[in-house]
Amino acid sequence: MDRDLALNLVRVTEAAALGCARYMGRGDKIIADQAAVDGMRSMFDTIDIDGVVVIGEGEMDEAPMLYIGEQIGKADEDCPKVDIAVDPLDGTTAVAKGLPNAIAVVAMAPRGCLLHAPDMYMEKIAVGPKAAGVIDLDASVEDNLKAVAKALNKDISDITVTILDRERHEDLINKVREAGARIKLFGDGDVAAAIATCFEHSGVDILMGIGGAPEGVIGAAALKCMGGEFQGRLVPMNDEERERCKKMGIGDINKVLTMEELAKGDQIFFAATGISDGELLKGVVYYENNTAKTHSMVTRAKTGTIRFIEAIHKLDKKPKYAK
Ligand code: FBP
Repeated sequence: MDRDLALNLVRVTEAAALGCARYMGRGDKIIADQAAVDGMRSMFDTIDIDGVVVIGEGEMDEAPMLYIGEQIGKADEDCPKVDIAVDPLDGTTAVAKGLPNAIAVVAMAPRGCLLHAPDMYMEKIAVGPKAAGVIDLDASVEDNLKAVAKALNKDISDITVTILDRERHEDLINKVREAGARIKLFGDGDVAAAIATCFEHSGVDILMGIGGAPEGVIGAAALKCMGGEFQGRLVPMNDEERERCKKMGIGDINKVLTMEELAKGDQIFFAATGISDGELLKGVVYYENNTAKTHSMVTRAKTGTIRFIEAIHKLDKKPKYAK
């Protein structure tokens, strides 16, 4: 796939971020999400891909745009046929409340290379490049922490585990504490938290816990590009969800899904733009004269290059985002 598509993917996440950032702190996550979806969807029309949404805003009857199965992109004859996984706003509550960590994300891969994960929970473990190859979702919390500590040449008490702040994680949190590692809880946005494990300056070494399965596929795609490791296991909560797993061909629900099963091959692209401030990406900042600045990153698995892109947008010239 043409490497220049990477820059166009950033345009897509920038459009989502610019669309929804004005709704930060307004207390309405539905409007914020819709604005992100609108921004992202319209930018896709300008991109030279023949895309199908495999992770999106829901099934066709639930979501008018970016629904699963929707054809997106210019779709000219010579456009690459790709799978697209989107989360125009990962962190709807974060934006509604003006809290950190909300980002717009897109992953892209050749057709058939991204797992069509159903909208349910997924147990996750993720680490950066130095600890890739030593984690195992089937192993105990303590064994994983010991293995990561060894790989990073740190004492276990210097390892920081980042975990979604949810009641369901009480047992996990106790186990991490018993093992002697540090914990950093976060309110929302486990794609950003998974990415943080790939950057030493984030101070986060490992992501553990249960979050959304769609976000799991996007996180796996991101870590594939950055040389980290991600493993997931679907967590169906009822018979209907168990049935959906079976239909996807996942007969053994306890099966650990490897990064390769979640995002196959080395033609994976990933882009993200900050909406509210996070550890790696600042949120959208508004300046005088109807100008806004976005902070994005884009990477692809083939080369592993990670580009951080700051862009100044003259919103007068982009009437869609004007007040
Ligand atoms: P939304 O933007 O859809 O609200 O997702 C935010 C998020 O924090 C995800 O990053 C995470 O995977 C999921 O919610 C966890 O789900 P829950 O809020 O039900 O614990």
